[in-house]
Amino acid sequence: MSNQRHYSTADRLLLQADTALRTLLPFNGQASRMSPATLEDSAPLDAAEARHVAGLMRINHTGEVCAQALYQGQALTAKLPAIRSAMEEAAEEEIDHLAWCEQRIRELSSHTSVLNPAFYGLSFGIGALAGLVSDRVSLGFVAATEEQVVKHLDEHLSDIPATDRKSRAILEQMRKDEAAHASNALHAGGHVFPRPIKFGMTLLSKVMTKTTYRI
Ligand SMILES: [Fe+2]
Ligand SMILES: [Fe+2]
Repeated sequence: MSNQRHYSTADRLLLQADTALRTLLPFNGQASRMSPATLEDSAPLDAAEARHVAGLMRINHTGEVCAQALYQGQALTAKLPAIRSAMEEAAEEEIDHLAWCEQRIRELSSHTSVLNPAFYGLSFGIGALAGLVSDRVSLGFVAATEEQVVKHLDEHLSDIPATDRKSRAILEQMRKDEAAHASNALHAGGHVFPRPIKFGMTLLSKVMTKTTYRI
């Protein structure tokens, strides 16, 4: 017998609303793993460095908001229950990243992006649409997105001062997790996306990074 729970449409919508609020309200994401920053000591950053790192961590935080929304949207429209629960599990892991980034942003005396609700809505729609097309497209979308995230993380890791070991520890753990999400999605049967679609995704992520670095 399957241990998959059966929810009504109304239950699902309520769960979605609950997840959206937990993602968007400050200090609501409960990490299940301790932040990798806890074990590190960082030398104090000067004001300009702190502002720059906070901007980068704000981008990463919004990226996690998008990941959360994407997975929730995909879980809503996934056809196979196994895919749906894989999406829900991955979303759970992204909550750790979300909470770690938010915590670091606060330590740097800054704030998360005011644009998060808009990016949540947009990503939720894209995820739900991908799920409607097919599970293979949906998984392919996860793989392509996570590959993009890994590239961003590499750029940030080369940009963040070596003395900021706390931010670096967070991004290094995220990089490992995201790379695993990408390869899991491909192994589960995800389509490898053609170049033009990947190019479109790069443009969209440029809009996100340019805006959320500042606000
Ligand atoms: Fe993540
Ligand atoms: Fe991920």
